[in-house]
Amino acid sequence: MQRVTRKAKQNDVPALGALDRQAGQLSRQLTQALRQAIRNGSLQPGEALPSTRRLARALQLARGTVTEAYEQLVAEGFLVSRRGSGTWVTPFQDVTPPTSAPPLCAPPLSAQAQAFARAAGCIVTLPAAPFAVSEPVGAAAPDDVWRTLGNRLRARGAGAPAGYAAPHGAWPLRQAVAEYVRTARSVQCTPEQVIITAGIQQGLALSAQVLLDAGEAAWVEDPGYPGITALFESTCRDRRMIRVPVDAEGLDVQAGEALAPHARAAFVTPSHQYPLGMPMSMSRRNALVGWARAQQAWIVEDDYDSEFRYTGHPFPALQGLAPAQVVYLGTFSKILFPSLRLGYAVVPEALVEAFCGARLLMDRHPPGADQTLLAAFMAEGHLARHIRRLRTLYAEKHHDLNRAVAEQIDPALAWLQPCDQGMHRVLWLRESDDRVVLPLALAAGVAVRAISPMYANGHGRSGLLLGLGGYPREQVEAAARTLNRILIKTRNSASA
Ligand SMILES: Cc1ncc(COP(=O)(O)O)c(C=O)c1O
Repeated sequence: MQRVTRKAKQNDVPALGALDRQAGQLSRQLTQALRQAIRNGSLQPGEALPSTRRLARALQLARGTVTEAYEQLVAEGFLVSRRGSGTWVTPFQDVTPPTSAPPLCAPPLSAQAQAFARAAGCIVTLPAAPFAVSEPVGAAAPDDVWRTLGNRLRARGAGAPAGYAAPHGAWPLRQAVAEYVRTARSVQCTPEQVIITAGIQQGLALSAQVLLDAGEAAWVEDPGYPGITALFESTCRDRRMIRVPVDAEGLDVQAGEALAPHARAAFVTPSHQYPLGMPMSMSRRNALVGWARAQQAWIVEDDYDSEFRYTGHPFPALQGLAPAQVVYLGTFSKILFPSLRLGYAVVPEALVEAFCGARLLMDRHPPGADQTLLAAFMAEGHLARHIRRLRTLYAEKHHDLNRAVAEQIDPALAWLQPCDQGMHRVLWLRESDDRVVLPLALAAGVAVRAISPMYANGHGRSGLLLGLGGYPREQVEAAARTLNRILIKTRNSASA
Protein backbone atom coordinates (compact mmCIF):
# COMPACT_ATOMS: atom_id res chain seq x y z
CA MET A 1 0.00 0.00 0.00
CA GLN A 2 1.36 3.34 -0.94
CA ARG A 3 0.61 5.89 1.75
CA VAL A 4 1.13 9.40 0.51
CA THR A 5 0.90 12.06 3.17
CA ARG A 6 2.50 14.89 1.26
CA LYS A 7 0.30 17.82 0.58
CA ALA A 8 0.97 19.07 -2.90
CA LYS A 9 2.44 22.49 -3.14
CA GLN A 10 0.67 23.48 -6.26
CA ASN A 11 -2.90 23.16 -7.26
CA ASP A 12 -2.81 23.12 -11.00
CA VAL A 13 -5.84 22.39 -13.08
CA PRO A 14 -5.76 18.62 -13.49
CA ALA A 15 -5.99 16.99 -16.89
CA LEU A 16 -9.46 15.49 -16.88
CA GLY A 17 -10.22 14.87 -20.53
CA ALA A 18 -13.08 16.43 -22.42
CA LEU A 19 -16.57 16.72 -21.01
CA ASP A 20 -19.44 15.96 -23.35
CA ARG A 21 -21.50 19.11 -23.26
CA GLN A 22 -24.25 17.68 -25.49
CA ALA A 23 -24.87 14.87 -23.01
CA GLY A 24 -25.65 17.32 -20.15
CA GLN A 25 -25.27 16.43 -16.46
CA LEU A 26 -21.93 18.21 -16.42
CA SER A 27 -21.60 18.02 -12.68
CA ARG A 28 -21.90 14.21 -12.84
CA GLN A 29 -19.41 14.02 -15.68
CA LEU A 30 -16.94 16.17 -13.76
CA THR A 31 -17.42 14.08 -10.62
CA GLN A 32 -16.73 10.94 -12.61
CA ALA A 33 -13.65 12.44 -14.28
CA LEU A 34 -12.18 13.55 -10.93
CA ARG A 35 -12.99 10.20 -9.33
CA GLN A 36 -11.26 8.43 -12.19
CA ALA A 37 -8.21 10.73 -11.93
CA ILE A 38 -7.89 9.88 -8.21
CA ARG A 39 -8.32 6.17 -8.87
CA ASN A 40 -5.74 6.02 -11.63
CA GLY A 41 -3.27 8.11 -9.68
CA SER A 42 -3.22 11.21 -11.88
CA LEU A 43 -4.45 13.02 -8.81
CA GLN A 44 -2.38 11.85 -5.84
CA PRO A 45 -3.49 11.50 -2.21
CA GLY A 46 -2.91 14.81 -0.46
CA GLU A 47 -2.75 16.77 -3.71
CA ALA A 48 -4.51 20.11 -3.63
CA LEU A 49 -7.21 20.85 -6.14
CA PRO A 50 -7.73 24.24 -7.74
CA SER A 51 -10.40 26.42 -6.24
CA THR A 52 -13.90 25.94 -7.61
CA ARG A 53 -13.68 29.36 -9.25
CA ARG A 54 -10.42 28.51 -11.01
CA LEU A 55 -11.48 25.10 -12.22
CA ALA A 56 -14.83 26.46 -13.40
CA ARG A 57 -13.05 29.14 -15.41
CA ALA A 58 -10.57 26.66 -16.89
CA LEU A 59 -13.28 24.20 -17.91
CA GLN A 60 -15.78 26.88 -18.84
CA LEU A 61 -18.34 25.59 -16.41
CA ALA A 62 -20.62 27.31 -13.94
CA ARG A 63 -18.96 27.51 -10.56
CA GLY A 64 -21.93 25.75 -8.97
CA THR A 65 -21.27 22.75 -11.22
CA VAL A 66 -17.74 22.42 -9.84
CA THR A 67 -18.89 22.99 -6.26
CA GLU A 68 -21.46 20.26 -6.66
CA ALA A 69 -18.83 17.80 -7.98
CA TYR A 70 -16.42 18.63 -5.12
CA GLU A 71 -19.19 18.21 -2.53
CA GLN A 72 -20.17 14.84 -3.97
CA LEU A 73 -16.58 13.60 -3.82
CA VAL A 74 -16.15 14.92 -0.28
CA ALA A 75 -19.27 12.96 0.67
CA GLU A 76 -17.81 9.85 -0.99
CA GLY A 77 -14.53 10.30 0.87
CA PHE A 78 -12.34 10.98 -2.18
CA LEU A 79 -11.76 14.65 -1.26
CA VAL A 80 -11.44 16.63 1.94
CA SER A 81 -12.23 20.24 2.20
CA ARG A 82 -11.67 22.81 4.93
CA ARG A 83 -13.13 26.26 4.84
CA GLY A 84 -10.39 28.74 4.00
CA SER A 85 -7.77 26.10 3.15
CA GLY A 86 -9.28 24.65 -0.02
CA THR A 87 -9.92 21.14 -1.23
CA TRP A 88 -7.48 18.29 -1.69
CA VAL A 89 -7.40 14.60 -2.39
CA THR A 90 -7.91 12.61 0.78
CA PRO A 91 -4.53 11.54 2.18
CA PHE A 92 -3.82 7.89 3.09
CA GLN A 93 -5.67 6.46 0.12
CA ASP A 94 -4.55 3.14 -1.14
CA VAL A 95 -3.77 3.99 -4.72
CA THR A 96 -1.61 0.94 -5.40
CA PRO A 97 -3.15 -1.00 -8.26
CA PRO A 98 -3.54 -4.69 -7.37
CA THR A 99 -0.29 -6.31 -8.51
CA SER A 100 -1.78 -9.62 -9.56
CA ALA A 101 -5.09 -8.34 -10.81
CA PRO A 102 -7.59 -11.18 -11.04
CA PRO A 103 -9.30 -11.73 -14.38
CA LEU A 104 -12.45 -9.76 -14.93
CA CYS A 105 -14.90 -12.41 -13.75
CA ALA A 106 -17.07 -13.05 -10.70
CA PRO A 107 -15.72 -15.00 -7.72
CA PRO A 108 -16.48 -18.76 -7.76
CA LEU A 109 -20.02 -19.68 -6.80
CA SER A 110 -20.71 -21.19 -3.40
CA ALA A 111 -22.21 -24.67 -3.31
CA GLN A 112 -25.36 -22.94 -2.09
CA ALA A 113 -25.46 -20.62 -5.11
CA GLN A 114 -24.98 -23.59 -7.44
CA ALA A 115 -27.84 -25.43 -5.74
CA PHE A 116 -30.13 -22.41 -6.12
CA ALA A 117 -29.11 -22.04 -9.76
CA ARG A 118 -30.13 -25.66 -10.38
CA ALA A 119 -33.45 -25.00 -8.63
CA ALA A 120 -34.15 -22.06 -10.95
CA GLY A 121 -35.07 -24.47 -13.73
CA CYS A 122 -37.12 -26.88 -11.62
CA ILE A 123 -40.52 -25.36 -12.33
CA VAL A 124 -40.76 -23.86 -15.79
CA THR A 125 -43.75 -21.63 -16.50
CA LEU A 126 -45.61 -23.16 -19.44
CA PRO A 127 -46.75 -21.07 -22.40
CA ALA A 128 -50.46 -20.17 -22.46
CA ALA A 129 -51.62 -23.06 -24.66
CA PRO A 130 -53.40 -26.38 -24.16
CA PHE A 131 -52.54 -28.30 -21.87
CA ALA A 132 -51.20 -25.68 -19.48
CA VAL A 133 -53.16 -25.40 -16.25
CA SER A 134 -55.79 -22.77 -16.79
CA GLU A 135 -54.90 -19.14 -16.81
CA PRO A 136 -57.77 -17.37 -15.10
CA VAL A 137 -59.00 -15.52 -18.17
CA GLY A 138 -62.49 -15.28 -19.60
CA ALA A 139 -64.94 -17.48 -17.76
CA ALA A 140 -62.25 -18.65 -15.31
CA ALA A 141 -61.44 -15.11 -14.11
CA PRO A 142 -63.04 -13.68 -10.98
CA ASP A 143 -65.91 -11.62 -12.35
CA ASP A 144 -66.12 -7.84 -12.28
CA VAL A 145 -66.69 -7.90 -8.52
CA TRP A 146 -62.95 -8.27 -7.94
CA ARG A 147 -62.22 -5.05 -9.83
CA THR A 148 -65.20 -3.16 -8.38
CA LEU A 149 -64.26 -4.20 -4.86
CA GLY A 150 -60.66 -3.15 -5.48
CA ASN A 151 -61.74 0.27 -6.71
CA ARG A 152 -64.10 0.68 -3.77
CA LEU A 153 -61.43 -0.22 -1.24
CA ARG A 154 -58.84 2.00 -2.87
CA ALA A 155 -61.31 4.92 -2.90
CA ARG A 156 -61.87 4.39 0.84
CA GLY A 157 -58.13 4.26 1.42
CA ALA A 158 -58.43 0.83 3.00
CA GLY A 159 -56.34 -0.82 0.29
CA ALA A 160 -53.75 1.92 0.15
CA PRO A 161 -50.18 1.19 1.21
CA ALA A 162 -49.74 1.65 4.93
CA GLY A 163 -46.92 1.02 7.40
CA TYR A 164 -45.33 -2.28 8.38
CA ALA A 165 -47.81 -4.91 9.49
CA ALA A 166 -47.87 -8.19 11.44
CA PRO A 167 -46.08 -11.22 9.93
CA HIS A 168 -49.25 -13.33 10.43
CA GLY A 169 -51.13 -11.33 7.81
CA ALA A 170 -54.23 -9.15 8.03
CA TRP A 171 -56.68 -10.16 10.74
CA PRO A 172 -59.85 -9.93 8.57
CA LEU A 173 -58.25 -12.27 6.01
CA ARG A 174 -57.11 -14.69 8.72
CA GLN A 175 -60.70 -14.76 10.03
CA ALA A 176 -62.10 -15.31 6.54
CA VAL A 177 -59.60 -18.12 5.81
CA ALA A 178 -60.32 -19.85 9.14
CA GLU A 179 -64.03 -19.76 8.39
CA TYR A 180 -63.45 -21.03 4.83
CA VAL A 181 -61.17 -23.97 5.69
CA ARG A 182 -63.38 -24.99 8.62
CA THR A 183 -66.49 -25.22 6.46
CA ALA A 184 -65.05 -26.22 3.07
CA ARG A 185 -62.15 -28.44 4.14
CA SER A 186 -63.06 -29.70 7.66
CA VAL A 187 -59.89 -28.10 9.03
CA GLN A 188 -59.99 -27.55 12.78
CA CYS A 189 -58.57 -24.14 13.64
CA THR A 190 -59.04 -20.68 15.03
CA PRO A 191 -58.08 -17.48 13.09
CA GLU A 192 -55.07 -17.17 15.43
CA GLN A 193 -53.59 -20.30 13.84
CA VAL A 194 -53.83 -18.92 10.30
CA ILE A 195 -50.71 -17.37 8.80
CA ILE A 196 -51.11 -15.72 5.43
CA THR A 197 -48.33 -16.75 3.04
CA ALA A 198 -47.22 -15.84 -0.46
CA GLY A 199 -48.68 -19.15 -1.70
CA ILE A 200 -47.98 -22.78 -0.83
CA GLN A 201 -44.43 -22.55 -2.14
CA GLN A 202 -43.59 -20.18 0.70
CA GLY A 203 -45.56 -22.37 3.10
CA LEU A 204 -43.36 -25.32 2.13
CA ALA A 205 -40.19 -23.29 2.57
CA LEU A 206 -41.33 -22.01 5.98
CA SER A 207 -42.28 -25.52 7.09
CA ALA A 208 -38.95 -27.05 6.06
CA GLN A 209 -37.10 -24.23 7.79
CA VAL A 210 -39.13 -24.28 10.99
CA LEU A 211 -39.84 -27.97 11.55
CA LEU A 212 -36.45 -29.53 10.90
CA ASP A 213 -33.08 -29.10 12.52
CA ALA A 214 -29.86 -29.71 10.61
CA GLY A 215 -29.32 -33.41 9.98
CA GLU A 216 -32.96 -34.31 10.53
CA ALA A 217 -34.89 -36.25 7.91
CA ALA A 218 -38.24 -35.67 6.26
CA TRP A 219 -40.35 -37.94 4.09
CA VAL A 220 -41.19 -36.59 0.66
CA GLU A 221 -43.43 -38.38 -1.83
CA ASP A 222 -41.92 -40.32 -4.75
CA PRO A 223 -42.94 -39.15 -7.31
CA GLY A 224 -43.48 -35.70 -5.88
CA TYR A 225 -43.92 -32.02 -6.55
CA PRO A 226 -40.68 -30.46 -7.88
CA GLY A 227 -41.32 -27.41 -5.68
CA ILE A 228 -40.70 -29.51 -2.56
CA THR A 229 -37.92 -31.75 -3.86
CA ALA A 230 -35.97 -28.77 -5.24
CA LEU A 231 -36.43 -27.03 -1.90
CA PHE A 232 -34.66 -29.85 -0.09
CA GLU A 233 -31.98 -30.03 -2.76
CA SER A 234 -31.25 -26.30 -2.46
CA THR A 235 -32.12 -24.53 0.80
CA CYS A 236 -32.38 -27.56 3.07
CA ARG A 237 -29.28 -29.44 2.00
CA ASP A 238 -28.35 -30.02 5.63
CA ARG A 239 -31.65 -31.89 6.15
CA ARG A 240 -32.20 -35.34 4.72
CA MET A 241 -34.94 -35.86 2.15
CA ILE A 242 -36.23 -39.43 2.24
CA ARG A 243 -38.19 -40.21 -0.92
CA VAL A 244 -41.07 -42.50 0.05
CA PRO A 245 -42.85 -44.37 -2.77
CA VAL A 246 -46.45 -43.62 -3.58
CA ASP A 247 -48.84 -46.34 -4.75
CA ALA A 248 -52.52 -46.32 -5.69
CA GLU A 249 -53.47 -45.42 -2.09
CA GLY A 250 -50.99 -42.58 -1.72
CA LEU A 251 -47.82 -42.43 0.35
CA ASP A 252 -46.69 -45.90 1.42
CA VAL A 253 -46.35 -45.36 5.17
CA GLN A 254 -44.82 -48.78 5.81
CA ALA A 255 -42.12 -48.06 3.23
CA GLY A 256 -41.44 -44.74 4.96
CA GLU A 257 -41.11 -46.50 8.31
CA ALA A 258 -38.65 -48.93 6.80
CA LEU A 259 -36.58 -46.16 5.19
CA ALA A 260 -36.51 -43.59 7.99
CA PRO A 261 -38.71 -44.43 10.99
CA HIS A 262 -37.51 -41.44 13.01
CA ALA A 263 -38.04 -38.76 10.40
CA ARG A 264 -39.22 -35.46 11.89
CA ALA A 265 -41.80 -34.63 9.23
CA ALA A 266 -43.70 -35.96 6.22
CA PHE A 267 -44.61 -33.70 3.28
CA VAL A 268 -47.71 -35.04 1.52
CA THR A 269 -50.45 -34.13 -0.98
CA PRO A 270 -53.25 -36.33 0.45
CA SER A 271 -56.27 -34.82 -1.32
CA HIS A 272 -54.84 -35.06 -4.82
CA GLN A 273 -51.41 -36.64 -5.01
CA TYR A 274 -49.04 -34.60 -7.14
CA PRO A 275 -48.45 -35.64 -9.88
CA LEU A 276 -50.39 -38.95 -9.97
CA GLY A 277 -53.77 -37.55 -9.03
CA MET A 278 -55.34 -39.99 -6.54
CA PRO A 279 -56.42 -39.17 -2.98
CA MET A 280 -54.72 -40.86 -0.04
CA SER A 281 -56.91 -43.72 1.24
CA MET A 282 -58.44 -43.53 4.71
CA SER A 283 -56.32 -46.41 6.00
CA ARG A 284 -53.13 -44.67 4.79
CA ARG A 285 -54.23 -41.40 6.40
CA ASN A 286 -54.73 -43.23 9.68
CA ALA A 287 -51.39 -44.99 9.32
CA LEU A 288 -49.60 -41.71 8.61
CA VAL A 289 -51.19 -39.98 11.58
CA GLY A 290 -50.41 -43.03 13.76
CA TRP A 291 -46.75 -42.91 12.73
CA ALA A 292 -46.58 -39.14 13.33
CA ARG A 293 -48.12 -39.52 16.80
CA ALA A 294 -45.80 -42.34 17.77
CA GLN A 295 -42.71 -40.53 16.50
CA GLN A 296 -43.75 -37.02 17.60
CA ALA A 297 -43.33 -36.01 13.96
CA TRP A 298 -45.06 -33.28 11.94
CA ILE A 299 -47.16 -33.75 8.82
CA VAL A 300 -47.16 -31.00 6.20
CA GLU A 301 -50.32 -31.22 4.12
CA ASP A 302 -50.07 -29.52 0.70
CA ASP A 303 -53.72 -29.01 -0.30
CA TYR A 304 -53.16 -27.18 -3.57
CA ASP A 305 -56.31 -27.79 -5.64
CA SER A 306 -58.73 -29.92 -3.65
CA GLU A 307 -61.62 -27.49 -4.16
CA PHE A 308 -62.18 -29.00 -7.57
CA ARG A 309 -63.87 -32.37 -7.27
CA TYR A 310 -66.40 -33.08 -10.00
CA THR A 311 -68.36 -35.92 -8.49
CA GLY A 312 -69.41 -35.68 -4.86
CA HIS A 313 -67.75 -33.37 -2.37
CA PRO A 314 -64.04 -32.55 -2.00
CA PHE A 315 -62.20 -34.98 0.30
CA PRO A 316 -61.83 -33.58 3.83
CA ALA A 317 -58.37 -32.39 4.81
CA LEU A 318 -56.05 -34.72 6.69
CA GLN A 319 -55.54 -31.92 9.21
CA GLY A 320 -58.94 -32.69 10.77
CA LEU A 321 -57.59 -36.06 11.94
CA ALA A 322 -54.62 -34.63 13.83
CA PRO A 323 -54.86 -30.84 14.24
CA ALA A 324 -51.97 -30.73 16.75
CA GLN A 325 -49.56 -32.37 14.31
CA VAL A 326 -50.45 -31.13 10.88
CA VAL A 327 -49.32 -27.95 9.16
CA TYR A 328 -52.04 -27.39 6.57
CA LEU A 329 -51.11 -25.39 3.46
CA GLY A 330 -53.65 -23.87 1.09
CA THR A 331 -53.50 -21.41 -1.79
CA PHE A 332 -55.55 -18.93 -3.77
CA SER A 333 -53.45 -19.65 -6.88
CA LYS A 334 -55.89 -22.19 -8.30
CA ILE A 335 -59.24 -20.83 -7.15
CA LEU A 336 -58.38 -17.19 -7.96
CA PHE A 337 -55.12 -16.63 -9.83
CA PRO A 338 -51.46 -17.52 -9.27
CA SER A 339 -50.10 -13.99 -9.68
CA LEU A 340 -52.04 -12.97 -6.57
CA ARG A 341 -49.34 -14.80 -4.56
CA LEU A 342 -51.53 -15.34 -1.52
CA GLY A 343 -52.04 -18.57 0.38
CA TYR A 344 -52.13 -19.68 4.00
CA ALA A 345 -50.62 -22.01 6.52
CA VAL A 346 -52.83 -23.28 9.33
CA VAL A 347 -50.37 -24.30 12.01
CA PRO A 348 -50.76 -25.95 15.43
CA GLU A 349 -50.79 -23.34 18.21
CA ALA A 350 -47.34 -24.41 19.37
CA LEU A 351 -45.87 -23.37 16.01
CA VAL A 352 -47.51 -19.96 15.51
CA GLU A 353 -44.67 -17.90 16.97
CA ALA A 354 -41.99 -19.88 15.14
CA PHE A 355 -43.71 -19.49 11.77
CA CYS A 356 -44.17 -15.78 12.43
CA GLY A 357 -40.49 -15.35 13.24
CA ALA A 358 -39.43 -17.22 10.11
CA ARG A 359 -41.83 -15.17 8.00
CA LEU A 360 -40.60 -11.93 9.52
CA LEU A 361 -37.03 -12.77 8.61
CA MET A 362 -37.93 -13.98 5.14
CA ASP A 363 -39.99 -11.07 3.81
CA ARG A 364 -41.55 -9.45 6.87
CA HIS A 365 -45.25 -9.80 5.98
CA PRO A 366 -47.64 -10.26 3.06
CA PRO A 367 -48.57 -7.24 0.90
CA GLY A 368 -51.40 -5.31 2.55
CA ALA A 369 -53.65 -4.11 -0.26
CA ASP A 370 -54.50 -7.48 -1.81
CA GLN A 371 -55.14 -9.03 1.59
CA THR A 372 -57.75 -6.37 2.33
CA LEU A 373 -59.35 -6.91 -1.05
CA LEU A 374 -59.38 -10.70 -0.69
CA ALA A 375 -60.80 -10.53 2.84
CA ALA A 376 -63.69 -8.42 1.57
CA PHE A 377 -64.17 -10.72 -1.43
CA MET A 378 -64.49 -13.70 0.93
CA ALA A 379 -66.55 -11.98 3.62
CA GLU A 380 -69.13 -10.86 1.05
CA GLY A 381 -69.54 -14.43 -0.25
CA HIS A 382 -67.95 -13.86 -3.67
CA LEU A 383 -65.28 -16.54 -3.28
CA ALA A 384 -67.81 -19.28 -2.54
CA ARG A 385 -69.84 -18.23 -5.61
CA HIS A 386 -66.69 -18.09 -7.75
CA ILE A 387 -65.63 -21.61 -6.69
CA ARG A 388 -69.09 -22.97 -7.53
CA ARG A 389 -68.83 -21.37 -10.98
CA LEU A 390 -65.32 -22.74 -11.55
CA ARG A 391 -66.35 -26.22 -10.51
CA THR A 392 -68.94 -26.28 -13.28
CA LEU A 393 -66.49 -24.77 -15.76
CA TYR A 394 -63.67 -27.22 -15.01
CA ALA A 395 -66.07 -30.16 -14.98
CA GLU A 396 -66.77 -29.24 -18.63
CA LYS A 397 -63.04 -28.94 -19.28
CA HIS A 398 -62.53 -32.40 -17.77
CA HIS A 399 -65.13 -33.73 -20.11
CA ASP A 400 -63.54 -31.94 -23.12
CA LEU A 401 -60.14 -33.38 -22.27
CA ASN A 402 -61.52 -36.91 -21.88
CA ARG A 403 -63.19 -36.62 -25.27
CA ALA A 404 -60.20 -35.07 -27.04
CA VAL A 405 -57.87 -37.80 -25.79
CA ALA A 406 -60.36 -40.57 -26.60
CA GLU A 407 -60.92 -39.26 -30.12
CA GLN A 408 -57.47 -38.02 -31.07
CA ILE A 409 -54.90 -40.17 -29.27
CA ASP A 410 -54.27 -43.75 -30.24
CA PRO A 411 -54.86 -45.92 -27.12
CA ALA A 412 -51.95 -48.09 -28.22
CA LEU A 413 -49.71 -45.05 -27.57
CA ALA A 414 -51.13 -43.54 -24.39
CA TRP A 415 -53.99 -43.71 -21.93
CA LEU A 416 -55.58 -41.14 -19.65
CA GLN A 417 -55.69 -42.08 -15.99
CA PRO A 418 -59.23 -41.77 -14.61
CA CYS A 419 -59.57 -38.98 -12.06
CA ASP A 420 -62.49 -36.91 -10.84
CA GLN A 421 -60.78 -33.91 -9.33
CA GLY A 422 -58.13 -31.24 -9.67
CA MET A 423 -56.81 -29.15 -12.52
CA HIS A 424 -54.64 -31.66 -14.30
CA ARG A 425 -54.76 -35.23 -15.62
CA VAL A 426 -52.09 -37.86 -16.17
CA LEU A 427 -51.56 -39.27 -19.65
CA TRP A 428 -49.42 -42.42 -19.37
CA LEU A 429 -47.23 -43.09 -22.38
CA ARG A 430 -46.88 -46.70 -23.47
CA GLU A 431 -43.97 -46.46 -25.88
CA SER A 432 -42.57 -42.92 -25.76
CA ASP A 433 -40.11 -41.36 -23.35
CA ASP A 434 -41.77 -38.28 -21.83
CA ARG A 435 -38.43 -36.45 -21.80
CA VAL A 436 -38.17 -36.94 -25.55
CA VAL A 437 -41.79 -35.92 -26.11
CA LEU A 438 -41.62 -32.79 -23.93
CA PRO A 439 -39.43 -30.52 -26.12
CA LEU A 440 -41.19 -31.67 -29.30
CA ALA A 441 -44.57 -30.89 -27.77
CA LEU A 442 -43.47 -27.46 -26.54
CA ALA A 443 -42.00 -26.67 -29.96
CA ALA A 444 -45.33 -27.63 -31.55
CA GLY A 445 -47.24 -25.30 -29.20
CA VAL A 446 -48.53 -28.01 -26.85
CA ALA A 447 -47.83 -27.27 -23.17
CA VAL A 448 -47.22 -30.41 -21.09
CA ARG A 449 -45.03 -31.48 -18.16
CA ALA A 450 -43.03 -34.72 -18.07
CA ILE A 451 -43.71 -37.02 -15.11
CA SER A 452 -40.67 -39.31 -15.09
CA PRO A 453 -38.27 -36.58 -13.81
CA MET A 454 -40.55 -36.20 -10.76
CA TYR A 455 -39.44 -39.64 -9.53
CA ALA A 456 -36.51 -39.88 -7.12
CA ASN A 457 -34.02 -41.24 -9.62
CA GLY A 458 -35.32 -38.91 -12.36
CA HIS A 459 -36.24 -41.90 -14.53
CA GLY A 460 -39.68 -43.00 -13.38
CA ARG A 461 -42.70 -44.02 -15.33
CA SER A 462 -43.17 -42.13 -18.56
CA GLY A 463 -46.18 -39.84 -18.65
CA LEU A 464 -47.39 -36.32 -19.24
CA LEU A 465 -49.32 -33.93 -17.03
CA LEU A 466 -52.13 -32.35 -18.98
CA GLY A 467 -53.56 -29.23 -17.35
CA LEU A 468 -57.20 -28.29 -17.66
CA GLY A 469 -56.72 -25.09 -19.56
CA GLY A 470 -59.49 -22.60 -20.12
CA TYR A 471 -59.12 -23.15 -23.87
CA PRO A 472 -61.86 -23.72 -26.44
CA ARG A 473 -62.73 -27.33 -27.22
CA GLU A 474 -61.41 -27.09 -30.82
CA GLN A 475 -58.02 -25.92 -29.54
CA VAL A 476 -57.86 -28.81 -27.06
CA GLU A 477 -58.74 -31.26 -29.84
CA ALA A 478 -56.09 -29.81 -32.15
CA ALA A 479 -53.48 -30.05 -29.37
CA ALA A 480 -54.43 -33.70 -28.74
CA ARG A 481 -54.04 -34.40 -32.47
CA THR A 482 -50.59 -32.80 -32.48
CA LEU A 483 -49.62 -34.80 -29.41
CA ASN A 484 -50.70 -37.99 -31.13
CA ARG A 485 -48.44 -37.17 -34.10
CA ILE A 486 -45.53 -36.64 -31.71
CA LEU A 487 -46.26 -39.93 -29.94
CA ILE A 488 -46.17 -41.73 -33.28
CA LYS A 489 -42.86 -40.06 -34.09
CA THR A 490 -41.34 -40.91 -30.70
CA ARG A 491 -42.63 -44.48 -30.61
CA ASN A 492 -40.03 -46.80 -29.08
CA SER A 493 -38.12 -43.91 -27.50
CA ALA A 494 -39.13 -45.29 -24.08
CA SER A 495 -36.65 -48.13 -24.36
CA ALA A 496 -33.97 -46.01 -26.08
C1 LIG B 1 -48.49 -29.75 -5.54
C2 LIG B 1 -48.33 -28.27 -5.54
N1 LIG B 1 -47.94 -27.66 -4.41
C3 LIG B 1 -47.74 -26.34 -4.36
C4 LIG B 1 -47.95 -25.55 -5.46
C5 LIG B 1 -47.61 -24.08 -5.35
O1 LIG B 1 -48.71 -23.28 -5.27
P1 LIG B 1 -48.58 -21.72 -4.97
O2 LIG B 1 -48.87 -21.03 -6.26
O3 LIG B 1 -49.61 -21.47 -3.93
O4 LIG B 1 -47.20 -21.43 -4.47
C6 LIG B 1 -48.38 -26.12 -6.66
C7 LIG B 1 -48.57 -25.31 -7.86
O5 LIG B 1 -48.94 -25.76 -8.91
C8 LIG B 1 -48.57 -27.52 -6.70
O6 LIG B 1 -48.95 -28.12 -7.84
